[in-house]
Amino acid sequence: MEKTSIFHPNSPFARSTVDLLNVTFVISAVIMTLVCGLVAYCIWRFRGRPEHPEPHQLRGHKTLEIVWTVIPFLLLVYLLILTVRSMYASDPPRHNRDPDIIVTGHQFWWEARYPKSGVVTANEIHIPTGQPLLLRLESADVIHDFWVGQLGRKMDVMPDYANFIWIQANQPRDYYGVCAEFCGVQHAWMRIRVTAQSPEEFADWERQQLQPAPTPAGASAQRGAELFRQITCINCHAIRGLPGEPHAGPDLTHVATRQTLGAGVVENTPEHLAQWLKNPQKLKPGNLMPNMLLTDAQVQDMVSYFQTLK
Ligand code: CUA
Repeated sequence: MEKTSIFHPNSPFARSTVDLLNVTFVISAVIMTLVCGLVAYCIWRFRGRPEHPEPHQLRGHKTLEIVWTVIPFLLLVYLLILTVRSMYASDPPRHNRDPDIIVTGHQFWWEARYPKSGVVTANEIHIPTGQPLLLRLESADVIHDFWVGQLGRKMDVMPDYANFIWIQANQPRDYYGVCAEFCGVQHAWMRIRVTAQSPEEFADWERQQLQPAPTPAGASAQRGAELFRQITCINCHAIRGLPGEPHAGPDLTHVATRQTLGAGVVENTPEHLAQWLKNPQKLKPGNLMPNMLLTDAQVQDMVSYFQTLK
């Protein structure tokens, strides 16, 4: 639980949200206990008893009315101040700073581009620890919502309109996030994995991701590479070095370095990859990849090819 719980924030942006939530919860709990306790007491204390006449009736009580108006008013002002402070802390101004990562929501996966280095990847976002990063959020189709609760606030991802959020990870490890706006049949499988690494390791990762796709070695992988071009995979999936820069499907230049397939549906193993290629609709029904009706031999060749894409 600690890996996903928003109650274990790992950035100043997420921390401010949780602090506000905690204070609001405590104040609400005290008020609820007080009100429910008073109601219960009055029900018991002033219950109807045959030997007692009706209790004394009150018609207006200035002091009481002032008390129960002023106290809530002060509480609301206090909460307003905390909320405005938290809004500012979780969403600081960006002063025209260029985004560090451009995240595009697709039905049903995430594209991540690093405009400063040129890296393009999918579903698994790598970041350096200890520094605030500005994300520009865009959608290629419908409204999604980017939410990695331990690293920052939650933000809608809109078509034709860019939103921005700050994220940061203090500790190097994996963080998990989800799409938080219903966006179609596979909304639940639009998982986000953020891998926070020390700045040195992150630089190594970026260098590695910038390498061109390696030349496939071995007859099977070569047949796979040939097939990839022939059967129009390159209309949707980019592999650096091949013509075109399509964005309809995930960039596959270094697909073998990713942990999962289908935005978190299954682990990235040769068996799962083969199942996916054989019938993408079986592992993730409703995703936009058509069944290419590959033979088992063709599937094996494609798997061999993708395994070289490190
Ligand atoms: Cu994308 Cu829900």
